[in-house]
Amino acid sequence: MSGYKIAVFVGSLRKESFNRKMAKALTALAPESLKLEIIEIGGLPLYNQDYDDEGKALPPWTAFREQVRSFDGLLFVTPEYNRSVPAVLKNALDVGSRPYGKSVWDGKPGAVMSVSPGAIGGFGANHHLRQSLVFLNVPAMQQPEAYIGNAASLFDESGNLANDSIREFAANYVHAFAAWVETNRSGGKQ
Ligand SMILES: Cc1cc2nc3c(=O)[nH]c(=O)nc-3n(C[C@H](O)[C@H](O)[C@H](O)COP(=O)(O)O)c2cc1C
Repeated sequence: MSGYKIAVFVGSLRKESFNRKMAKALTALAPESLKLEIIEIGGLPLYNQDYDDEGKALPPWTAFREQVRSFDGLLFVTPEYNRSVPAVLKNALDVGSRPYGKSVWDGKPGAVMSVSPGAIGGFGANHHLRQSLVFLNVPAMQQPEAYIGNAASLFDESGNLANDSIREFAANYVHAFAAWVETNRSGGKQ
């Protein structure tokens, strides 16, 4: 396997975010074939179609689009807000999807993990996000699914995964994603 660069998007801006802690844990557990890097999305201005015309794109959008283009795959780690995708993450998806015909997401293999202190593990957000990924032509790993509930009990005081069971699940998940990326990149787009 060659090295694949994976852009990690965290759907929470909260300082003590469980999702960010999980994203960091996945980064540490990833096999050598994947290089995970968190891409910050909190500073992206809200998407506005008026600025899609030639030469009008806002500089942070252009920088974001160029940055995402340089990655081979996409990993989304997100909470659920009101049974759906947090606005900050949906905004990043929308910004990257335009101007029409120039989406930066097209063909990049992806995976979705949702993390919540609640019992349902962010299932609603996870699947709403998958709905957008179908349209954006991001082949999203189907298995293993990852709806991580009761998140408050999963991390120790330093923000590390607190027990063997979740550590093993996370490691298995990111290794399965490595295989998914390899499969899709070997026949996929640049
Ligand atoms: C606006 C808002 C809506 C929320 N809606 C849900 C929800 O629908 N389902 C859920 O499991 N948790 C919901 N929560 C609780 C979040 O799961 C919780 O705040 C979680 O810690 C956010 O993820 P983070 O720790 O990565 O910031 C909501 C929180 C906020 C602030």
